[in-house]
Parts: sequence; structure tokens; C-alpha cells
Amino acid sequence: MAPQSFFGTLIHSLSPTTVEYLPQTLLIIDEDGRIAALHPLISASAIPSLLTSSNYTPSTCPLTTLSPTEFLIPGFIDTHTHAPQWAQRGVGRGLPLLTWLSDLTFANEARCHDADYAQTLFHSCITGGLKQGITTACYYSSLHAPATLILAKTCLALGQRALLGKCNMDRNAASWYQDESAASSLADTHTVISEVQALDQNTGLVTPVITPRFAICCTPALLAGLGDLARKHPAVPIQTHFNESRGEVDFTRSLFPEYADETALYEAFGLLGERSILAHAIYLSEGEMERVQRLGCGIAHCPVANTTMDAFMVAPVREYLRRGMKVGLGTDCGGGYSSSMLETMRAAFVVSVARESETQGRDEALSVAEGFYMATVGGARVCGLEGKVGRFAVGMEFDALVVSAGIDGVMAPVQSQDALQTVFEKFLMTGDDRNIVRVFVKGREVKGGSVSRDFGFVL
Ligand code: GUN
Ligand code: FE
Repeated sequence: MAPQSFFGTLIHSLSPTTVEYLPQTLLIIDEDGRIAALHPLISASAIPSLLTSSNYTPSTCPLTTLSPTEFLIPGFIDTHTHAPQWAQRGVGRGLPLLTWLSDLTFANEARCHDADYAQTLFHSCITGGLKQGITTACYYSSLHAPATLILAKTCLALGQRALLGKCNMDRNAASWYQDESAASSLADTHTVISEVQALDQNTGLVTPVITPRFAICCTPALLAGLGDLARKHPAVPIQTHFNESRGEVDFTRSLFPEYADETALYEAFGLLGERSILAHAIYLSEGEMERVQRLGCGIAHCPVANTTMDAFMVAPVREYLRRGMKVGLGTDCGGGYSSSMLETMRAAFVVSVARESETQGRDEALSVAEGFYMATVGGARVCGLEGKVGRFAVGMEFDALVVSAGIDGVMAPVQSQDALQTVFEKFLMTGDDRNIVRVFVKGREVKGGSVSRDFGFVL
């Protein structure tokens, strides 16, 4: 890949409450898609000599100068989503979670047994995510090992960074949609881990994940086997649905009466630690919160799904942030009807206002800055990618969006008196995918002017 450089305004998050605005900044991206240099607040006349100091020239490192209505932000990180549910988004609102699974979702996922179907669906899902600036997605595939490998190959072919896992589920699903046995589920998971690792030896874009769907769908033998697998693969992340709904929590308790709560249950099977990605995390007791914090688990907050299926369920995100826990945002498609991280940020904000009322002001509503943090740096921390993506710094990989506030969309119009902070807030609260004009993953353009389908990876 050719090196490239950008000159213009960069915006990224430094902490949950601090957004950094860097106008007049030169960013140099090397041939591996890494940020080689970042020079803030320079004058355009300094660019040639700064390129020289990185051993480039204007011809070896082409420059893109952003217009005054454009800025660069880090790509969005969707910490929880389901590729096999891409076509069912929007359907089945208000159903209790367990009914939504049994009456609608399992049948959709079962279709991924057909490789052609899976390939077409996943292509649409990944393209839809990239279009909306999702440069990293943390996917649940279906229970099928072949479909999971198709998902990995399609992510590599289209250039999306991804964490992905075959769903483990050997009971309480449907006779026609569950793993044959704990042993077959574990063998398939082992295959997926080694084949995904073998597929991607060059780019480091795709990572396998151990994915017990949730305890309801897993026998103790399967959970124990997955715990063993996790010990054998200390770098492989683990994801599950966790304390998501009252019905789910109660059913789990009845299946595993020997454990006081879900934290005790998953911990006993060796599935909780710094590489665990826990989706939802709504109904935790004080004691569970302390243990989840101590174990260093990450939380994937999915406010759209939490408030439009089952009931209006409000996760204690302010408390998680107060404790310094890792929190990212998830679209949770198709439990969530929206595949947009912008909409997910807005839903997080709305839900946090409900939480503020519910707690008589104790849990203060989230700010726009906190939403942006969770969608970028927070998500990177949850996915174990904080050293690679989520913000702009020398040595980080270039996963980024060029946002245009000046296109003909529906974003609140920019007015002459608007400060950059105001323009950014307008984008976060009213912009959409039309404002995301170019998208880069590890330096490769995956949406916009010069998208190349030649990623050295053929389906
Ligand atoms: N719990 C178990 N499976 C699922 C799923 O597919 N979506 C959601 N939101 N919760 C689940
Ligand atoms: Fe989910």
C-alpha cells in the first residue's frame, strides 16, 4: 500500500470527558497503514519539510488536504453485533427476549447453514457497517463453523477489522438449531479458532472469539470445555450475553441454582477476565459489579436493543464509568434495530437521561463527549485493541473517517458563527452516513473516492 498523508482538522477522544480538537494537523500514514507522524498546528508551507523528515516526498506520499467543512475522526467500534441477524433488524419489537429468540431469531440464524446465503448476508452486513464508519465490529456468527469462516473471509475481503466467534449453544434453542453435543460444539470452536488465525497471518485484522451465546443455551459440560479452551488460548477474547433481561436472569438462576448470580457462574467456568466482553450487563447487584470490575471485564452497552425489545431496560453505565471500567457501545443488530453507531450513541444519551431520573439525579446523564469516547477509545479497550486503534497517535493503525459537515444531507446546517466544537456536536447528534464520506481501515480506503477491492484476499 502506498503511504499517504492528510492535512486538516483531527478530532479524537483522550478520556471519557475530554475531546481533543487538532486543527491544521499533518498526519503521515506509512505503507503498513500505521500513523508514522502527527504534527499539530502547523502551517501548510511546513508540509514538504515535515514529509522529508519522515523520509517521504510529496510524490512518494500523496497529500489529501481536507476542506474547512471536513474533519477526521477515529473509526467507530461496534463492540456487540450479530451478523446472521442483519436481515431481521426492525422486526419483532417489544417481544420478550426469550420469545424473540425462539420465534424469530433462531430461524433466521439457521439459514446460515447455506453457505451462499451466509456469504450474501454477511457481505451486505459488512458493507452496511463500513458505510456507516464501523471500522471494527465484534460479531457473533451463527452456530455454524463454515458460516463463521465465511464471515472472517468476507471481513478480510472487504477490509473490516473484526472479532468474531461461532455461537456455542447445545441446549434450550431449537431441535433444528443447536449444536449436536458439547463435544461437537467444542471441536467446531477449536477449528474456527485455528482456521481464523491461519487465514489472517498478515493483516492482524480478524480475531477469533470464544462465544458461549449465554448460559441458558450452554450445558455445564460445554461451559467447562470453553473455559479450558480459553485457558489454552490466553490471547483469544471471550464474549457472552450477560444479565440482559429479567426473564433471562431468572431462567439462568433456575438452570444453575448452585451459583448466586451470573458473575459467579461465568467466573466458575473460567470465562471472566480482562479479555471478556459482556454484552448488556443491566441487572448486576452491587457485589457483582465489584467482582466484574475487579476481574477487568469489558462492557458492551447496547441501548437500542435494551429499550426496544423486551422492556425499557437501563444499564448503569454512569456507575461503570465512575468505577473506571471499560465500556463500549454495541448496535446489537438485530436485537437493536439500528446498525448506526451515531444512533447508538444518541440512544445511550437518551437512556442515560432516563437513568438520571430513575436514580433521582445520582447517575448523571452521559455527555456527548462520553458517547464519542465509548464509540471509539472505550470500544477499543473493550476489544483489547487500545494499543492499535480508537485515537490518533504515532504507531497506531489508521482506522479513520473523513466527516463532511458540508454535504447535502439532514445534518443541522453549519452556520458561520459555529465553533468547531459546535459543528462536531451537530454531526454526532444529527449527522448520518452521508456525512461519513471516506472510511479507512489500517490505511486502506473502504468507503469513498478510491476504494480498491484488491486486498490480496479473494473469496
Ligand atoms: N441472548 C442470547 N442470544 C441473544 C441475541 O441474539 N441477542 C440478544 N440481544 N440477546 C441474546
Ligand atoms: Fe446480542
